[in-house]
Amino acid sequence: MKKHLLSAADLTVDDVATLFTTAAEMHDVQHREVKKLPALRGRTVINLFFEDSTRTRSSFEIAGKWLSADTINIAGKGSSASKGESLRDTVMTIASMGVDAVVMRHGASGAALQVSQWIDAAVINAGDGTHEHPTQALLDAYTLTRRLGTLEGRHVVLVGDLTHSRVFRSNVLLLATLGARVTVVAPPTLMPAGVETWSKDVGFATSYDLDEVLPTADAVMMLRVQRERMSGGYFPTSREYTVGYGLTRDRLAVLGPDVPICHPGPMNRGLEIAADAADAAQSLVLDQVSAGVAVRMSVLYHLLAGEGGHA
Ligand code: NCD
Repeated sequence: MKKHLLSAADLTVDDVATLFTTAAEMHDVQHREVKKLPALRGRTVINLFFEDSTRTRSSFEIAGKWLSADTINIAGKGSSASKGESLRDTVMTIASMGVDAVVMRHGASGAALQVSQWIDAAVINAGDGTHEHPTQALLDAYTLTRRLGTLEGRHVVLVGDLTHSRVFRSNVLLLATLGARVTVVAPPTLMPAGVETWSKDVGFATSYDLDEVLPTADAVMMLRVQRERMSGGYFPTSREYTVGYGLTRDRLAVLGPDVPICHPGPMNRGLEIAADAADAAQSLVLDQVSAGVAVRMSVLYHLLAGEGGHA
């Protein structure tokens, strides 16, 4: 594995296999009464979050704690960043305290890469703007692999606000590495500019027609409509979005009971996903959250354990 985890494209098939094997062991730890392992004793992990987060931040914190690392959370709001300190000064200040890893979420695409060039600590990208979120893609693939056995040749359908989605970008890269067949579906206004070229390079299909794609899906991943990143009108009304692109009760019936449904959260219930779909027996939404802790334990372990840093 590389020193940093900045992009899903950093990961080879072998890296993913290693991470998943360790994640499965960590998953067992999650079900023990006493969850602490000594693996990262004496290591310090900083969670530096400049954007809101529930799952990602807390699961990195729990992952670090269960591996006995000292974990510290710094939020953009409440830090000197809100006094006008530059990102570089904030990061150099933290690095000077002697930390081993920085888990970072920032509103600017490329922020994690930039930080990795300033400091010696391992940098894990926990979401940089609309660019990437590699540990989310890892936990999605881990969850789906456990359900489907393998992703090789499986048809995974991603639906939603692709323009603003770092989960989409990391997922298509990782799913391509793992040999899945991928189709991404969005209304024309939420299909990213330049997707024609990128989809050919990476190897995924695009569609504007959810009802055409859905019957051939082996797994469906619904993505959130990211209103906070929208400046104008991307669709006429919420109702029209749901009719065209929501996983409604009718579409759930088309899908049948065996096709797993994923959503990275937070969900807009009633907009991109109906409550019936979110709470269906085939919904993996909470499995994804639980896998998130195991997968992040595995990532921290492989980047930090062993002599002199990354293993
Ligand atoms: C995603 C994110 O923040 O990129 N959420 C997450 O990490 N669980 C997706 C989203 O915000 O819609």
